[in-house]
Amino acid sequence: MKWNAELYDDKHAFVFQYGESVLELLVVKAGERILDLGCGTGHLTKKIQQQGAEVIGIDASPEMVAQAKENYPELDFIVANGADFSFDEPFDAVFTNATLHWIHDADGVIKSVYKALKPGGRFAGEFGGKGNVQLLLAATATVLKKYGYAKDNNINPWYYPSTAEYATKLEAGGFRVTFATHFDRSTLLQDGRDGMAKWFNMFGSSIFKGVPATELPQVLNEITDLLQPTNEVDGQWYADYKRLRFIAIKE
Ligand code: BEZ
Repeated sequence: MKWNAELYDDKHAFVFQYGESVLELLVVKAGERILDLGCGTGHLTKKIQQQGAEVIGIDASPEMVAQAKENYPELDFIVANGADFSFDEPFDAVFTNATLHWIHDADGVIKSVYKALKPGGRFAGEFGGKGNVQLLLAATATVLKKYGYAKDNNINPWYYPSTAEYATKLEAGGFRVTFATHFDRSTLLQDGRDGMAKWFNMFGSSIFKGVPATELPQVLNEITDLLQPTNEVDGQWYADYKRLRFIAIKE
């Protein structure tokens, strides 16, 4: 997927703003060497450095990495595949926020992270958990089926495991899971009703690949109408996020 890094920083800042609380999972110690997996535009990478660590950010998107370098030229950012990367020097910790739901090869991620960590090193982070944005996806499936652009409800392009499923993978990959939780985090969108179409445009373009550009506004408008009873409260619009947070230690 091609990212619009400027729009991401401007209208979807909630991704890294919510991510600041995810950083608490990491408990950075001064002098540690830390990898930020899925660094996006680099804002949390910078926070990690400000907490005293030596940090490298990786992201699969060249657009995001270019923006991260522009935002923080003093930091190291590299384009790399989160499911297949390696470094010569090991890390004390790998941190990740709002990234792992984009990578279906979860075993590849876990294998790469395991190899990149020192013994006893930690892997900590958050991503979309089972049921994430299920209201958004259900409304989208309904409208796409109505227009003949989807055959069934099976339109989710993301990886949203349950806590048990992901913890099992981590354990199979050689980690001891010391913390795992799944919770609702309704996420406020910017720009009121328009925020819903903007969310889909930013993150969900792959779902609408078959929809002609001329029809897309109408399709998004109908999806938004369907979501109004559940996702609008007092003029504010929300996405029904469900998060999975974890800490795992390399054994
Ligand atoms: C999320 O952070 O949960 C998310 C972001 C973009 C697309 C899907 C999920």
